[in-house]
Amino acid sequence: MDFAEHDRDILTQILRWRRDVRHFRPDALNSDIEDALQQAMDLAPSVGNARPWRVIRVESPDLRKAGQEIFSTCNQAARDSYDGAQRDAYMALKLAGMEVAPLQLAIFTETAPEEGHGLGRATMPETLVQSTAMSIYSLMLTARALNIGVGMVSILDPGAMERLFDVPDTWCFASWLCIGYPETQDDTPLLHRVGWQENTQTQWETR
Ligand SMILES: Cc1cc2nc3c(=O)[nH]c(=O)nc-3n(C[C@H](O)[C@H](O)[C@H](O)COP(=O)(O)O)c2cc1C
Repeated sequence: MDFAEHDRDILTQILRWRRDVRHFRPDALNSDIEDALQQAMDLAPSVGNARPWRVIRVESPDLRKAGQEIFSTCNQAARDSYDGAQRDAYMALKLAGMEVAPLQLAIFTETAPEEGHGLGRATMPETLVQSTAMSIYSLMLTARALNIGVGMVSILDPGAMERLFDVPDTWCFASWLCIGYPETQDDTPLLHRVGWQENTQTQWETR
């Protein structure tokens, strides 16, 4: 398969317009979209082809509420780690869309998978967690191509998340994904736009 200039332009647009989304419309996603997002994870690279990501679709109102409460506790603790103007700025940020997003996924990494037979991770066990991050990004880019937004929530106590979902001891929490139609579109990260942290350019050092 050879790609042309037009295809590269589209990829650039998808990369440029992918944003971490925290403001969602409540409209439900149809099952075709959910299938496409699920299949996008199948296409992700993983160490030893271990595919260590484990995904729980969080539909239960009780689980969603419990997740929001864990976020609220962790967000308050994070807020209290700042002082003065930076604390005020932190409080003004919206850092999750858990109360509205129609599709919500709790993502974990299986840290002792049979799959892959250990290939590639003996020296760097963290490659399993890295593989899960890749699957999340595959989902995010596919979502953007479907005009769907994704927000990652990591302001969550991983132990509390593992207990909430009663997952096996070998699973470690990766992220809570909020997924749905975005209220607005932007080609600029919200944290850059509000002045919390400006974009910087990736530098390649030559040695
Ligand atoms: C691993 C990871 C965890 C993140 N956790 C959060 C989070 O808990 N809350 C939040 O609002 N954004 C979270 N983000 C989104 C980042 O703030 C966002 O990616 C960054 O500001 C750049 O914006 P962009 O994704 O729109 O380019 C997370 C992003 C990553 C990659």
